[in-house]
Amino acid sequence: MATPHIGAEKGDIAERILLPGDPLRAKFIAENFLDGAKEYTHVRNILGYTGTYKGVPVSVQGTGMGIPSLMIYVHELIHEFGCKKLIRVGTCGAMHKKVHLRDVLIAQGATTDSSIMKSIFGLAINYAPLADFNLLEKAVNAARSLDLRVTVGNVFSADRFYDPDVDNDRLRKYGILGVEMETAGLYTLAAEADVQALGIFTVSDHLLTGEACTAEERQTTFQDMMKIALETAIAD
Ligand code: HPA
Repeated sequence: MATPHIGAEKGDIAERILLPGDPLRAKFIAENFLDGAKEYTHVRNILGYTGTYKGVPVSVQGTGMGIPSLMIYVHELIHEFGCKKLIRVGTCGAMHKKVHLRDVLIAQGATTDSSIMKSIFGLAINYAPLADFNLLEKAVNAARSLDLRVTVGNVFSADRFYDPDVDNDRLRKYGILGVEMETAGLYTLAAEADVQALGIFTVSDHLLTGEACTAEERQTTFQDMMKIALETAIAD
């Protein structure tokens, strides 16, 4: 039965799912990377599709921006539609000199300033949202066998995109590699439900140097990220 935010029937959505923030990115992925993809939802124009990759059923679903929006979709995908391997495919801003424009970044951990974490864990606990190790290992192996460079480490899942007060120097000092807005929520819900989750990003802009990808560079890195994400999604 359809949920409040996903207009699909049980069985319409695959256990393996890719999660871009942008619903039109979900459409692009479905049309360009999956075979025989069919739309299963367009509630609020947040699009979802199921098709196959190398013969394995794979879905792709937009999540919107930010942890609260992602958590709505991920909760319903896990608890109502039985999703078991959830891979966020997004963009991030690089914060560290170890990370370069056009790199593919994988979030081993996701530090956050989101108050949602306090509502789950209370004030005394600073939970460390982590990637599923099995998916992380598969993604790194997929990148190696495709001869693609990836950087693995801690990202910052920020609640506020336009934040004049965020202390990027301190985050950098403690090894934060990039900033995005969703992965801490994904990892926390996946851990709660004992399912697997991973966040993979293309570096679209660099906060230290002010550089930003051209449209063409974005496209190439996007292809690299998608190859890694899809090979990871279908690996057993
Ligand atoms: N901040 C937050 N999220 C992002 C950024 C950023 O600079 N770039 C891409 N996603």
